[in-house]
Amino acid sequence: MSWNSCQWLRKSRFVATFLFAFVSFSPFETVLAQAPEPASNPVALTSSPLTDPAIERRVEALLKQMTLDEKVGQLAQYSSGAPTGPSAGRADYPSMIARGEVGSLFNLDSAHAANQYQHIAVEKSRLHIPLLFGLDVIHGFRTTFPVPLALASTWDPSIVEKYARIAAQESSAAGIRWAFSPMVDIARDPRWGRIVEGAGEDPYLGSVMARAYVRGYQGKNLSDKESIAACVKHFVGYGAAEGGRDYNTAEISEHTLREVYLPPFYAALREGSASLMSSFNTINGLPATANPFTLTGILRNEWGFPGLVVSDWTSVGELVGHGIVRDKAGAAQKAMTAGIDMDMVSDSYHQHLANLVKSGKVSEARLDAAVRDVLRVKFALGLFDDPFTDESREIHGALPKERVDAARQAAERSFVLLKNSVAGSRPILPLSSESGTIALIGPLADDAKNMLGAWAGRGRPEDVVTLKTALVQRVGAEKIHYARGGEFQTSSDAEIQKAVETAQQADVVLLALGEEATEQTGEAASRAHLNLPGRQQELLEKVSATGKPVVLLLFSGRPLTLPWAFEHVPAIVAAWFPGIQAGPALVRVLYGDVPPSGKLVVSWPRTMGQIPIYYNALNTGRPADGVDLTHPPRNSLEKYISRYIDELNSPQFPFGFGLSYSSLEYSKTQVDSAKLNASALNASLRRAAADNAPHATASANVKNTGNRAVDEVVQLYVRLIGTGMEEPVRKLVGFKRISLAPGESQTVSFPLGAEAFSLWDVQNNQRVEPSRVQLWISPDSSRGLPAELEIVE
Ligand code: NOJ
Repeated sequence: MSWNSCQWLRKSRFVATFLFAFVSFSPFETVLAQAPEPASNPVALTSSPLTDPAIERRVEALLKQMTLDEKVGQLAQYSSGAPTGPSAGRADYPSMIARGEVGSLFNLDSAHAANQYQHIAVEKSRLHIPLLFGLDVIHGFRTTFPVPLALASTWDPSIVEKYARIAAQESSAAGIRWAFSPMVDIARDPRWGRIVEGAGEDPYLGSVMARAYVRGYQGKNLSDKESIAACVKHFVGYGAAEGGRDYNTAEISEHTLREVYLPPFYAALREGSASLMSSFNTINGLPATANPFTLTGILRNEWGFPGLVVSDWTSVGELVGHGIVRDKAGAAQKAMTAGIDMDMVSDSYHQHLANLVKSGKVSEARLDAAVRDVLRVKFALGLFDDPFTDESREIHGALPKERVDAARQAAERSFVLLKNSVAGSRPILPLSSESGTIALIGPLADDAKNMLGAWAGRGRPEDVVTLKTALVQRVGAEKIHYARGGEFQTSSDAEIQKAVETAQQADVVLLALGEEATEQTGEAASRAHLNLPGRQQELLEKVSATGKPVVLLLFSGRPLTLPWAFEHVPAIVAAWFPGIQAGPALVRVLYGDVPPSGKLVVSWPRTMGQIPIYYNALNTGRPADGVDLTHPPRNSLEKYISRYIDELNSPQFPFGFGLSYSSLEYSKTQVDSAKLNASALNASLRRAAADNAPHATASANVKNTGNRAVDEVVQLYVRLIGTGMEEPVRKLVGFKRISLAPGESQTVSFPLGAEAFSLWDVQNNQRVEPSRVQLWISPDSSRGLPAELEIVE
């Protein structure tokens, strides 16, 4: 986008916002009117595939020809396939499309179905405006990769980008040009089922991953037939649902919103994400789908977002349930004036928007702005020039090898080795040809469907290679004794007994336990108990009681609180839900063909009472540093500090944690400048383009001191001391994946740009303040000794 058109867009949004402020009077309008103008924040969006003057001219020309009803039609979206929410929407699509009353359909399955609807839109509707087809392409269309939490655990954006490109190729072949992904909600609460859909608790890692998804989906050119529009979601604060209960209210201060929850959205939009979805939750007393402060003040006025904003499923109509309006007409008015362009499924715009515009309750300017946002995306995708999909592009048979290999590599890098104790003379893992016979036990050992994880697009169980199949291929059926050990929720005494007997026959036990992906993880799957479902804990304990060495393979969409397992089971791998190549990937890591290299993207709680738990917390004035918390307080020094009297403060495993089969030594953490200048850093932070030019370099030496190869994720954290607002005890600001042969060492360097030292100040502006900086280069968020530098005036 040229600078001029960017300014123009922002200006028109700003004027529009001012107009809305006179139309309705919620408390947020006051805030909105005070929302900082673009210049007060450092970097506005600079690149978007939507900001092309040629597109803008076509949008304007078309808009001029549209009737009120046709405009409203572009803002209505319906589900045309299996519902993914509590209402099915409408069903008379062909006639509605012919009348120009539908802008987008989603949940379709095939290019043929999409083409049929598209023919109606472009041949029968008066202005021939093509439909935009969407889908929840979350971690795969057909080639199902590990769930997003696992993809993030790779700490490898190239893996995520590769995933998203494959997903784009497959979705677009089915006529889908719009993915409702990436989900970038920061989640600090594993009770929330949707923690599985995001990149965990950290805004920096979340931002890196968000950008990788957008790059992969949208490719170099959105109009490429194999590219699809990304939709960053859910704006905003959905992951902060109170009590971890899905759809629940969130309270987030503006400071925390900007420090923690907004950065991944901003990153995705800066990468050019063509669209954004609002969230279900209320944030600070106002539903996110009716929130002008976030949807217009931040998104449009500050960031200058030129793309399409869609509501979540029926979330416009749900404003009635929230109680801020009396009926769906009121809901349409509130959502529209707050900044929602397209109404997903709730039918509120379709039913009421035309009247709202006629009566002046919604301005024509706002209506036109929303329609422009929709048309802009359709033009950018090239739908007006070529609306149909070549049906021969769809894959009906076996998946191409390179896609399967990519899914396997992603899974291999996503597993997190949590524990690996010595049994006899060496750690249990990796297994080897000398490991003897294997008892393979558990409901997830041979369960294709659950390996796909929640939101598996059009993933097929028949594409999955389970652990059992892969293990048999590796060592031969004669070496494997298998028992399912019961179901997720129920097991009979006989099934448990059979599992115990199976364990007794073998030299080593692989126990595949965990959650049922589609029932217990993902949307509407919040859990108040983070244990192993059903009788799986009993199965684990009884099998362990045989005395055989046990490797627990934990399949889950979240950390589970399993204190007994972490104390008694010698080897534990967090396997998440690994996708179609679950079995081969696990076998290769278990046998050490490839090293385990995933790292946790969420702090793993010891117990439910610690939740929310996250590493980038504030320190308090009474931290428990240096105090032995393993017993109840014995004196006032041990009591009047920020602690539990009955549990440690620390998590079971910290953010960033993950073992390898080798040992590593970190040393010589240093930074090449003792002093940096705050104004120089601020100047670079404020430059319009994302100028993250280095001002210093931090480095450390990392040595593989063991006798096996490692792939390590080296992490860079900072703490800023002496700042106006309190800053977290550590913040991730960089990471690098490296490979080290046994005995090899490497100096790992990180260029330090202004962003690494920036914070959101008392006035909610991003800037660098004079401060003392501590800086760690470490294998996780809890270890290492800091280097220091000063940021001076
Ligand atoms: C509701 C979910 O919250 C959202 O993530 C999804 O994209 C829509 N349904 C559409 O299925």
